Amino acid sequence: MISPARLDRDMTAPIPALTPTLRWTGDSVEIIDQTRLPSELCLLDVRDAATAVDAIERLAIRGAPALGAFGALAVVVGFDEAAPRSLDDARSVLERLRTQIGDARPTAVNLRWAIDRTIDTALNASALNTSALNASALNTSDMADTATLRERLLVEALAVGAEDAKACAEIGRLGREVLADATTIATHCNAGRLATAGIGTALATVYAKAAAGDPVRVLASETRPLLQGARLTAWELADAGVDVSVVADGAMASLIAGGDVDAVIVGADRIAANGDTANKVGTFAHALAAADAGIGFYVAAPTTTIDPAMASGDQIVIEHRNPDEIHHAGPSRLTPEGVHAMNPAFDVTPNRLITAIITDAGVLRPPFDEAIAEALRTDLAAQTGNGTC
Ligand code: MRU
Repeated sequence: MISPARLDRDMTAPIPALTPTLRWTGDSVEIIDQTRLPSELCLLDVRDAATAVDAIERLAIRGAPALGAFGALAVVVGFDEAAPRSLDDARSVLERLRTQIGDARPTAVNLRWAIDRTIDTALNASALNTSALNASALNTSDMADTATLRERLLVEALAVGAEDAKACAEIGRLGREVLADATTIATHCNAGRLATAGIGTALATVYAKAAAGDPVRVLASETRPLLQGARLTAWELADAGVDVSVVADGAMASLIAGGDVDAVIVGADRIAANGDTANKVGTFAHALAAADAGIGFYVAAPTTTIDPAMASGDQIVIEHRNPDEIHHAGPSRLTPEGVHAMNPAFDVTPNRLITAIITDAGVLRPPFDEAIAEALRTDLAAQTGNGTC
């Protein structure tokens, strides 16, 4: 067990090289098992597809961008496990992994997006068959092609994580500017370094403020039933030396109404083309409270969390989890035997309640449909090198 508390850190120094949320070891993916935090910092070595799916389903790894970065690397692990001997075999292995890992959780768009990107880029690389032309025997060419394919999968999977880390840093920089006047910031769930391959999305703003020496204090709502706020946001902020107070979910609205909060910032699991945002269940209530009090309600997310195929939030599939998560807290039963429970894991905050969406492609403001379309166009132009100078 490693103690998380390092509250004496000099916040003007850069964020130290903390244990990464996920890491490619050379032949496996090592993740922090987030189900064990905050009491234990345990690492989990993921070497096969079934373990990867299990880690996603039980939230050992979680948060939309982290799911993307992890899912992409899990495809490589699953490919190595299957050890396909021909290109045809390799293609069918990848199609199996696409859905086996990609559909392990439905709401966070980054998971399936990152897996599709990794597989499709590797398969579509035009040079894939070059070695086949040069090889003398069919078997040799197939083996060379599967090795090339595996190499391309790894390169693309690592790029997903590296790009996410860059996006987080840019979100932090922009978020610090947007929230320049906010000292007490409320957040829900965990949209920090534990939820991304970088320094987080919503919490990147907090880290950027702290690193610059701006005064900042965080109110983290507990986030029933799995307590990502109480366990994870509180753990990582305390670990970084940021002043954090955990607040019961039901207390946040009255604290906001009473003037104790300057701004609310949350992450996102999927943002529709019109700006409607799916995030951890309870986010909607925070947005309503912020609107009623007249304070800013911000969503922070990389452009990879925007799903232009969803015209509006009502099309987003909301994950419903096992009702036992409501019935129990650890080993203790909370509800009377025999009663039912409903456990939607996310809700959708309508765009009218969102002040701005802080992305790595800029700060988007209403009307969101236009701002989002423009941001995605700019992003695509930058990737394909078609941007204007
Ligand atoms: O169920 P979880 O813990 O995966 O839910 C995570 C969230 O709702 C986060 O706010 C979201 O994924 C953004 S993480 C940067």
